[in-house]
Amino acid sequence: MSITRTQPVLLIHGGAWAMPDDAIEAHQHGIANALRAGWSALERGGTAVDAVEAAVTVMEDDDTFDAGRGSFLTRDGRVQLDALLMNGENLRTGGVACVERLRNPIQAARLVLDKSPHVYFVGSGAEQFAAEHGMNLIANADLIVPRERDRLTAFLAHEASGGTDTTFSGEPTLHSHDTVGAVALDRHGNVAAATSTGGTLAKAPGRVGDSSLIGCGCYADNLSAAVSLTGWGEPIMKLVLGKWAVDRIAAGSSPQQAAIDAIDYLYTRLGGHGGIILLAPDGSIGLAHNTPRMAWGIANPQGHQLGITRN
Ligand code: GLY
Repeated sequence: MSITRTQPVLLIHGGAWAMPDDAIEAHQHGIANALRAGWSALERGGTAVDAVEAAVTVMEDDDTFDAGRGSFLTRDGRVQLDALLMNGENLRTGGVACVERLRNPIQAARLVLDKSPHVYFVGSGAEQFAAEHGMNLIANADLIVPRERDRLTAFLAHEASGGTDTTFSGEPTLHSHDTVGAVALDRHGNVAAATSTGGTLAKAPGRVGDSSLIGCGCYADNLSAAVSLTGWGEPIMKLVLGKWAVDRIAAGSSPQQAAIDAIDYLYTRLGGHGGIILLAPDGSIGLAHNTPRMAWGIANPQGHQLGITRN
């Protein structure tokens, strides 16, 4: 008797925004590293959950992205991180939000998924749960990089001047979308999704965005698809856009059409900006964004490919 194996697929993103030319190389490098880590988990026979956790961990560890160390700062100059991981085989889910002392919030989300009867922890309770399960608690300062201190200072000066101070150039809704995410399909035919973020530039302390909310910035179900989003969180949350997109696939859309439709809906309904990746259990993928650029990578048995697409 032969056992049919699914061909694994890993699709990741490293943000969709007005990425400047001088940030492209770092994004390509970070995406390539994350792709290697996630793909090696799948090649070793790991699950889709293992693969998305591994890929997102690498991007959290890379200062380039708005996830883990190097994230955008809150108005009061701290890093507050949100992450969600979901298993499409059984809908088991783990989420953390507003954590300040974890280097890898996606690993805390994995612990919640694996070890807790609950689904979602926030703040000090999330940190305590992670510490009880073996994760190190670090100083918040260890997550802060000088680039982000300078960016926050420039943004606050720009805001205080009523827009006349030009040290900060750019529109925040187009300049702070460097959230990372991954969707994977393993050889058993199961999909999973993970999303991790430091949120938006100069967010109010305690603000939680779309990334770690089920069905908003992340969702996975073998009966439809796995999805991860990046973008300005508030419109994505109001539209529950991740679930909206996978439901279209369940209703017969291709992942690519669902990706295009989701970004159109985000813009036409609420003027939102962002990017989306989708992966169906048959291995078909979708990707769309309405930002100037989006960083992405895909791995399958045929090889690895990465890109920074432009609009
Ligand atoms: N998409 C990231 C956030 O708005 O928090």
